[in-house]
Amino acid sequence: MMPARIEGKAVWKGPEVDYRAEMMHRFSDAEVAEIDAALKACGERDIPDITADTFVLPTMGPTMRRLRGELLDGRGVVLMRGFPRERYSADDMARIYVGLGAQFGQPVSQSWQGQLLGSVIDISDVVEKVRGYNAGGGQNFHIDGSACDIVALMCLRSAKAGGASRIVSVAALHNAMLDSRPDLLETLYRGYYHRNHEMDALHSLMPVQSDHRLPFLSQRDGRVTCLASGCIRYAVQYGGVTMSPLEVEAYDEWQRLARSEEFFLDMNFEEGDIQFLNNRSIMHARTDYEDHDPVARRRHMLRLWLRVPEWPAREPNQIWMNEIDCRHWQDKNRTPFMELPSRYLAELTATQEQRQRDRTVLKPDVPSGKYPSARGWQEAREAAKVDA
Ligand SMILES: [Fe+2]
Repeated sequence: MMPARIEGKAVWKGPEVDYRAEMMHRFSDAEVAEIDAALKACGERDIPDITADTFVLPTMGPTMRRLRGELLDGRGVVLMRGFPRERYSADDMARIYVGLGAQFGQPVSQSWQGQLLGSVIDISDVVEKVRGYNAGGGQNFHIDGSACDIVALMCLRSAKAGGASRIVSVAALHNAMLDSRPDLLETLYRGYYHRNHEMDALHSLMPVQSDHRLPFLSQRDGRVTCLASGCIRYAVQYGGVTMSPLEVEAYDEWQRLARSEEFFLDMNFEEGDIQFLNNRSIMHARTDYEDHDPVARRRHMLRLWLRVPEWPAREPNQIWMNEIDCRHWQDKNRTPFMELPSRYLAELTATQEQRQRDRTVLKPDVPSGKYPSARGWQEAREAAKVDA
């Protein structure tokens, strides 16, 4: 049966949206004062202890509820702008960010390391085997782990140049493909095999690879949801999965549409900006960028993954990374205060300086700014077999 067309505010095209008018909340002076008071009352709590009960915003509640409604049934995107970044330390900004995020949902761990607050920063020349969010350059459009309902970024430090957040409406791409290539859309509803990133898999309680296809797209109650992470690529590159020509074409056509100027929206970050995205219905990528050399001066975004128990549950067949692993990683591998930017950057700076002294600076795997296609993954795997 042909999937239904999606209607409503979730369907939008980048060039037709003025995000400053439709997706942005600018902090008022009264809100800044309320948040400042909440920070003082919250004190130097560790990240898991910053909740809606400890970071109390007495009058912002209705606003935050309206904004969360926008994420579920509006445009799916909220940018909060105008917080005075220059008045606060990086660690206080982190606490404010978690306090605001806690009004929307509960933070979940973002990898086997158990971090509740992730740093999106290029450290691929400093640390081995990093995932995409710790490498520089552009990224394909994707959805973050399925344990996360809302993905948020706070901009602590901008790049030297470039590095905009590029986002696209899944519903708009869905409708476009329904018109142009319904056969490929059906292929996406059937989906792909998934495989965990090597390091997550080593620490996972789940099978390393799915034994069936998980739908790339799913639809219920007039909402379309998407599951499209790097785990699809890992299954092809490392898990022995072969995609049919139609599956390759469907994946690449979806990415081609997402990358076309007709659909995406670029959002430039100012320091202190917080962007919240519905991680089921908005795909994200970023443009290539130019960075500084010292780690402590590089483009640095803080990422939160929020689970929203009040929202309708994600379709069970669209769950790959799940809450059991996230809880396991948090309990087993997280150490107190590990995510605070001051501590994180101090450790990385020490490692970077040591590597430079030892002349063991790592070479990143993926060339900056490249957008690999599904055809490319298969070809690379075939080439590797020939070499072996
Ligand atoms: Fe991401």
